Amino acid sequence: MGFSPRKKMIKIAIDGPGGAGKSTVAKAVAAKLGIVYVDTGALYRTIGYYVKSQDVNPKDSEAVTALLPNINIEVKYENGVQCVYLNGENPGDAIRTPEMSMYASAVSAIGSVRAFLLETQKDIARKNSVIMDGRDIGTVILPDADVKIFMTASAECRAQRRYDELKAKGIDAKYEDVLAEMNERDKNDSTREIAPATAAPDAIIFDNSGMTLEQSVAGVIDIVNKKTGA
Ligand code: DC
Repeated sequence: MGFSPRKKMIKIAIDGPGGAGKSTVAKAVAAKLGIVYVDTGALYRTIGYYVKSQDVNPKDSEAVTALLPNINIEVKYENGVQCVYLNGENPGDAIRTPEMSMYASAVSAIGSVRAFLLETQKDIARKNSVIMDGRDIGTVILPDADVKIFMTASAECRAQRRYDELKAKGIDAKYEDVLAEMNERDKNDSTREIAPATAAPDAIIFDNSGMTLEQSVAGVIDIVNKKTGA
């Protein structure tokens, strides 16, 4: 089904665990709807990257908090692609390694880090029609989003997707390690005290286990159309 260009701003929140396909699906939906895709995980990854570069333990909340004044994060869109600049430089795919996934998960449990990134995220949504993916978008960042989706899939299915993604990027990994890391990260993210990764009460749960990318995209567009009466 097509989607007519809209005059009204729209805010779509996509939350869920890693490897559920949030970013790939959200990117495709953003292109179809002509709205901005925001990958909020990249912000936490960038902080994790900086913390690692300073040899600081990402679980040491005091030490991580002390680093925040040295961090300047800017989100830019270059040819429609989101780029996160850290102190004027774009670390690119260096934030995508399995190690950076764990660093991001660790620093994301720290309240001062979440507060530090709050305005950046809200500001993008204030200025643009967005589809934003993360863990707390429907609950904290965009509690008044027009559409909230909690996207999930079985752990095995998600680990396989993440494994394929890493391979495609030329990053060496074992499936078993990816699965174990994913389970550990899901546990961190969903059990932390601040803004845990949970579905908002008004989110639609979308389980895309066994679905192709095209089917997931069509499913999300369908939910958006139904919710917004398009
Ligand atoms: O979506 P991702 O895998 O790139 O996210 C990396 C980590 O960042 C994830 O393990 C938890 C954290 N995160 C978060 O706490 N809140 C968000 N809105 C997005 C990501």
